[in-house]
Amino acid sequence: MGSEPTNVKRTLRKSIIARRDALPEADRSAMSAIITRKIGGLAAYVDAEVVLAYMSFGSEFETGDFVRGVLETGKTLILPRLNRDRCGLDLYRVTDLEDGLEAGIWGIREPRGGTMLEDFSLLDFILVPGVAFSRDGGRLGYGGGFYDRLLVGKRPDALALAAAFSVQMVEKVPLEANDIPVDGIVTETGEYVRRF
Ligand SMILES: Nc1ncnc2c1ncn2[C@@H]1O[C@H](COP(=O)(O)OP(=O)(O)OP(=O)(O)O)[C@@H](O)[C@H]1O
Ligand SMILES: [Mg+2]
Repeated sequence: MGSEPTNVKRTLRKSIIARRDALPEADRSAMSAIITRKIGGLAAYVDAEVVLAYMSFGSEFETGDFVRGVLETGKTLILPRLNRDRCGLDLYRVTDLEDGLEAGIWGIREPRGGTMLEDFSLLDFILVPGVAFSRDGGRLGYGGGFYDRLLVGKRPDALALAAAFSVQMVEKVPLEANDIPVDGIVTETGEYVRRF
């Protein structure tokens, strides 16, 4: 038994992940390419110097081209590594996507270590993962609260943007006090932006 919002979240999480899993891989790749191109054209991304991204897994928006683009455009790429002891994400600078990463939980590739970014206020642009989103920025993640804890410490003018497929957009995301909204969501068919 959990609290009511927790149960509603769990049910929605399952159904949206199932919807996303049902997309053919070729479609997911094609949609990911469209989304990556759109984000690459946003002023907030172009102007960003320090970018936090993530390595995708399963049927998520494929972040491969995005993270390669961050490096190719000379920006500082930061990736998260799960810290089980403090139940949080440690952030590391990554310069090499092959040698710099290793498989962590669920096979998600994460930094091996190296230079840790202690000051989250240095982040200019944050690509946020998630399961379901509403047009006003409501976000449902995977249930760890990791990004809610991380986004609390972001600089107010840094942009937290989600890349998602349109099947992940819902009318309303069940929200609790700790849930931090994203500033925008880019899908293959739309852009839902609170501010840029
Ligand atoms: N800032 C916070 N401090 C302490 N606990 C938090 C904080 N933010 C979220 N949590 C807790 O984390 C748990 C999971 O939160 P939630 O269901 O919103 O996860 P989520 O947003 O789906 O996951 P994620 O952010 O990892 O993608 C909840 O018990 C929530 O209370
Ligand atoms: Mg949350």
